[in-house]
Amino acid sequence: MFGNFTYSNPTKLYFGDESLSYLHDELKNYGPTVMLAYGGGSIKKNGIYDAVCEILHAEGKRIVELPGVMPNPTVEKLYEGARLARENNVDLILAVGGGSTIDYAKGVSCSAWCEEDPWQKYYTRFEEATCKVIPVGAILTMVGTGSEMNGGSVITNHSLGLKVGKVFGDYAFPKFAILNPKYTFTVPQYQMVAGFFDIMSHILEQYLSGSDDNTTDYLAEGLMRSLVHSSRIAVKNPQNYEARSNIMWTATWALNTLIAKGKSTDWEVHMLGQAMGAITDATHGMTLAVVSLPYYRHIINSPNAKEGAVAKFARFAANVWNVDRTGKSEKQMAEEGLKALENWMCEIGLVMHSAELGVTEENIPAIADGTFLLDSGYVTLTRDDVVKILRESM
Ligand code: NZQ
Ligand code: ZN
Repeated sequence: MFGNFTYSNPTKLYFGDESLSYLHDELKNYGPTVMLAYGGGSIKKNGIYDAVCEILHAEGKRIVELPGVMPNPTVEKLYEGARLARENNVDLILAVGGGSTIDYAKGVSCSAWCEEDPWQKYYTRFEEATCKVIPVGAILTMVGTGSEMNGGSVITNHSLGLKVGKVFGDYAFPKFAILNPKYTFTVPQYQMVAGFFDIMSHILEQYLSGSDDNTTDYLAEGLMRSLVHSSRIAVKNPQNYEARSNIMWTATWALNTLIAKGKSTDWEVHMLGQAMGAITDATHGMTLAVVSLPYYRHIINSPNAKEGAVAKFARFAANVWNVDRTGKSEKQMAEEGLKALENWMCEIGLVMHSAELGVTEENIPAIADGTFLLDSGYVTLTRDDVVKILRESM
């Protein structure tokens, strides 16, 4: 490992089926006005809303409701939340939901007191917040993004055809996050497996880069093995607490900054997926699923790939999928590893073709235009490469 780094994570986690009870103590740390941000209503159906409100009332809080945070939250919704938070002088934003709601809460927390246009400041110029930032607490109901323990906040601007992730500093991480695996039992199967692939993709984005021997790569392999094992159980029995709790914990570690430490990372799959999401509004994890294999096959076949590329994919085959190395070249191993990944993706029921997400030959140029091209992975794509990968994803 050659990188120099600082590691700290400011989010306090409460994990387990009794974790909501800790909300009482956490609320005592904040003033009287709590903005309750949530999505399209799933928390009202499964009882989480009532349980949270009961605690808010017991702690004497004034609740400012902010419902209707959509999957892939929009910039218009961000402006609405920022206005509401400022008008009500909110002391804490409590996000109850999946990555969309938590990402959104972070965006609102840094935008409410911002004197500039937050889209311009954070999602175009990628500046840090310089205004008062409202603290965020998270109650996670859907697993995948890692938003519960990171500074990520992804906002979609449909009028510009862009979906952009801003990674805020420590100051915007949730101050606390409550993770009850039982809350994820009601997530629809489509969203559940999309979240599983989001986790896999986060790990791969950080694992498939660099050529040094690196402790975090061994951690990544362990996380992937656990995810594959538990996902197979969860798709057959979504109410299996052991599998769902392991996946919840894996998701958090997959993107809470730890496995990026000391090494290079890629993130081009997310750039492709987010650009596709901006145009189609498709579910995040599914956009990643459809572009991953074409992108990875592009890498292992690219004459310009950086040192260590094929060897890393071969290691992935051996250490994550138990592919036997006997008599095989690194290239054959790499191909077999990707085949094993593909088989698992089909097995858990992911969407494998972008045409099913609304990608057409006509909207490929707009998706290509919205794809940021990064140079930290094994290859740096050109716009032509992006178009080719998008076509192959269909
Ligand atoms: O709107 P509600 O009613 O809450 O329904 C949601 C939504 O329809 C539903 N759901 C969530 N928990 C449920 C449930 N339904 C029943 N029971 C429950 N317990 O699931 C649907 C999807 O929710 P959403 O929050 O959109 O999913 P996810 O957690 O995958 O978040 C996706 C967003 O996070 C961003 C994505 O780009 C996307 O905008 N990401 C955030 C990242 C970060 N902060 O670091 C990184 C990721 O790569 C990702 O980009
Ligand atoms: Zn993701």
